Amino acid sequence: MWQNAFDNKALSTFASMGSAFINRRGRNGNGGLTTVEGGTASRKADHIRINIEDDVAAKGIDNGFDAYRFVHCALPEVDLNAIDMSTELFGRRLAAPILISCMTGGTAEARDINRTLARVVQDARLAMGLGSGRVLLEQPGLLDTFDVRGFAPDALLLANLGAVQLNRGVGVNECRRLVDMLSADALVLHLNALQEALQPNGDTCFEGLLGRIAQVCEGLGKPVIVKEVGWGIAPDIVEQLFDAGVSAVDIAGAGGTSWSEVERHRIEAAWRNRVAASFAGWGISTAQCLRDARAVSPNGRIIASGGIRDGIDIAKAIALGADLVGIAGPFLRAAAAGDHAAADLAREWIEVLRIAMFGVGAKSLAELRGTPRCRHREDDGVALRTERLRYRTEGTSKFHDITDDVAAAVYRSGVRNGLVHVYSMHTTAAIRINENEELLLGDFERFLDRVAPAGNGAYEHDDIPRRVGVPPDEPLNGHSHCRHLLLSSSETLPLVDGTMALGRWQRIFLIELCSSRERDVVVQVVGA
Ligand SMILES: Cc1cc2nc3c(=O)[nH]c(=O)nc-3n(C[C@H](O)[C@H](O)[C@H](O)COP(=O)(O)O)c2cc1C
Repeated sequence: MWQNAFDNKALSTFASMGSAFINRRGRNGNGGLTTVEGGTASRKADHIRINIEDDVAAKGIDNGFDAYRFVHCALPEVDLNAIDMSTELFGRRLAAPILISCMTGGTAEARDINRTLARVVQDARLAMGLGSGRVLLEQPGLLDTFDVRGFAPDALLLANLGAVQLNRGVGVNECRRLVDMLSADALVLHLNALQEALQPNGDTCFEGLLGRIAQVCEGLGKPVIVKEVGWGIAPDIVEQLFDAGVSAVDIAGAGGTSWSEVERHRIEAAWRNRVAASFAGWGISTAQCLRDARAVSPNGRIIASGGIRDGIDIAKAIALGADLVGIAGPFLRAAAAGDHAAADLAREWIEVLRIAMFGVGAKSLAELRGTPRCRHREDDGVALRTERLRYRTEGTSKFHDITDDVAAAVYRSGVRNGLVHVYSMHTTAAIRINENEELLLGDFERFLDRVAPAGNGAYEHDDIPRRVGVPPDEPLNGHSHCRHLLLSSSETLPLVDGTMALGRWQRIFLIELCSSRERDVVVQVVGA
């Protein structure tokens, strides 16, 4: 999904108007602004031009929202005019949960775009992020290309910095200075590791950043938001960020603007171009990211962005748990076409959101969030996913905790609600759920030894000459089979919202009842 209907119709217009707008100042020019670091200004100008003129969409991955659809409600029991899309964030009231994501600053084109977008968010009462303020910290003379507070006195405004700058001498004081210069309500730190890796001389040392982000959260005195730039933030990182003290996470998933594609258009060497092209399909789709983030953080503030291309995507993102929905590329292209186009785009998407809420009978964002009327297409049919896990076991009556491997297989299955069946393909290796406590595991071993002792000549199965078709390396393991019969080949667990419903102490064990060897465990996930 690259453009919505509006974008499709208007793309060529935007592109030509956008390039005219840029060409007035020279293709890579900065509109007469003098900058100490011309490289940054020209990179910013390149980014705007490429995003307006070229195909920068991710390839082979979409935002994931097409897999969801709303179930129409013919009797909404709601007055369309009474639908409330408003929300509050960081002390500002928004008329609708829409954020124009962080984009630009530092050049004359950027100044005009920022002002256009600021007028839109002021009139429509939305939120707006500014582009990375690194250049502004270095050159305070560029303030008017970023500062839009005068144009949007009531809007929620977000300052922005690359998180990696925290490894390059930027500290809490610089972050505070940036927020103060822009009269911003919060600071966004962006994670763009892959983009830096693809840029010549990019800042690629991301070591120790989590601790530095925590320091900014602690010392800034304003909310800190961490975002990606279009490859998504996986749930384990979302948890780490909230633990570090961030006030909101913008998952900025894949399926929209691809920064490897943007950088590809700036690269001249053919082989480097191919390196960038390899990442056109990289990342976690926005819908998947959002659901996973919400699963690990039921109450954290989550912003969904990345490939949001119409008002229905906005409604779906809220339904899947977002507090706010961010859009970058489409607003850039609209702003390049002028105030009117940008204001119309905001108007259109707010109206689509309002009517979509009406269509599912949701009076407020709280009612839309988590509505059962937003269904995954697999909800209509049951999915079945099977994986085989292979282990090299040790010893006899040894317990191998395979819980994390099963959880990973469940995650890979994409199934969120249903059943997980864990099955051992062997007659002397069992699957059981119990507690992983060392002394208890010793108790189990001794218990099995007492019930079915090894090697006491009591097992007819070990009387090899009486059996037919026995391989030469057949072990004397009658006791192992008897133990297995007391245990089981499998366990079945409920799967709820992507998580196995295990109790606090419950772990899944593969129990070796014979001797060290290769064992296969089948994990079958059934559900939607
Ligand atoms: C021209 C342009 C410049 C951008 N600059 C920044 C930036 O300075 N800081 C940032 O965090 N994200 C930046 N982004 C990334 C967006 O905020 C957003 O995460 C990404 O484009 C995905 O959203 P989209 O698919 O709606 O475009 C920029 C995007 C565009 C289109």
